[in-house]
Amino acid sequence: MSTITRRDPLQYLAQELDAMRSQGIYRRLRILEDEQKAHTNFDHRSVVNLSSNNYLGLTTHPRLRQRALEAIEQFGVGSGSVRTIAGTMAIHMELERRLAEFKKTEAVVVFQSGFTANAGTVSSVLSKEDVIISDELNHASIIDGSRLSRATIKVFPHKDVDAVRRILRDLPSGPRKLLITDGVFSMDGDLGPLPDLCALAEEYGCIMMVDDAHASGVFGANGRGTIDHFDVHGRVDIQVGTLSKAIGALGGYVAGSRSLIDFLYHRARPFLFSTSHPPSVAATCLAAIDVLLEEPAIIERLWENTRFFKAGLVALGFNTGISESPITPVIVGDGALAMKLSDTLFEQGVFAQGIAFPTVARDQARVRTIVTATHTRDDLQFALDAFKNVGTALGVI
Ligand SMILES: Cc1ncc(COP(=O)(O)O)c(C=O)c1O
Repeated sequence: MSTITRRDPLQYLAQELDAMRSQGIYRRLRILEDEQKAHTNFDHRSVVNLSSNNYLGLTTHPRLRQRALEAIEQFGVGSGSVRTIAGTMAIHMELERRLAEFKKTEAVVVFQSGFTANAGTVSSVLSKEDVIISDELNHASIIDGSRLSRATIKVFPHKDVDAVRRILRDLPSGPRKLLITDGVFSMDGDLGPLPDLCALAEEYGCIMMVDDAHASGVFGANGRGTIDHFDVHGRVDIQVGTLSKAIGALGGYVAGSRSLIDFLYHRARPFLFSTSHPPSVAATCLAAIDVLLEEPAIIERLWENTRFFKAGLVALGFNTGISESPITPVIVGDGALAMKLSDTLFEQGVFAQGIAFPTVARDQARVRTIVTATHTRDDLQFALDAFKNVGTALGVI
């Protein structure tokens, strides 16, 4: 028997966690004990929930629940395979058809998540000889997909159209180029400058790609996203959307030309190597499209709540950055202070997650709020009162 005592080779992870604890940015996961809705229970506490991406309240919408249950009865609970072997069910194809119609593109491919849609697409469409021109605040899935592609990555300062022009001007004309931005930036809630970027993409012959995860169901007619909001239909070659946020279920998709989608069917690694959605998820998403088309008042309610809550935070004197969407950050700078603000709000019945480095820059820590269509005015006023009390007590306002 060996007498060697094995040292834990993962010891360094515990040290990194200790460092996070001493900086006050170690996070315990909050546990949701009820449905994902505007007023709910986390960690045995009843709270106004300002932390979910459930913009329209669709996670608990009766039409979505019903369609999911019917699909389970009719088709069972799993697809049993990746799409390219035996896991393409008729309901997956129906969802892709309906999404393409909704987004006004030739075709759509559905992925398991928005993350895999971005990462799987960028990494398969681009290769080593190509160049990716990417906003510094683009989502992690774009960054990972870009790295996987092995293309040269040129990062431009947030929304700096002149910097993009300089990068493009200096690049040789040979390599293929992808210009990529988020439609709505997830930590600041501001919009990508789509019309200007589309114009540059056209001038310099770039592929234009937009990640509309936080715009799906929120911006544009019936929630068609920022491409519709800015009326740049036909000028964005690759549109990514998510089914995990406003749509209330799970998944991501790419909308574009028939040949783009056929290529992704053959080359996008998450599509080839990871099992497809359970049929109930596809059915839920189909019901969500019906709701967007038939109950647009729900989107108007989201915007009324957004205007009310944003104005309230600004009137209290918080720094809410440059948001133009239902995502409103309350920027405090220091990571430990952001976590303290979040924790104290939670004790007072408001759940607004603290966010620090590496998700945002070290001096840009914040509490991020997202209102939904299903918050009542009382919920939002209660939250504003709590922000006032806690913000004053911690010297944030
Ligand atoms: C901008 C952006 N893109 C993509 C994603 C990934 O979407 P999903 O949650 O569906 O994987 C997110 C979600 O965190 C996001 O904020």
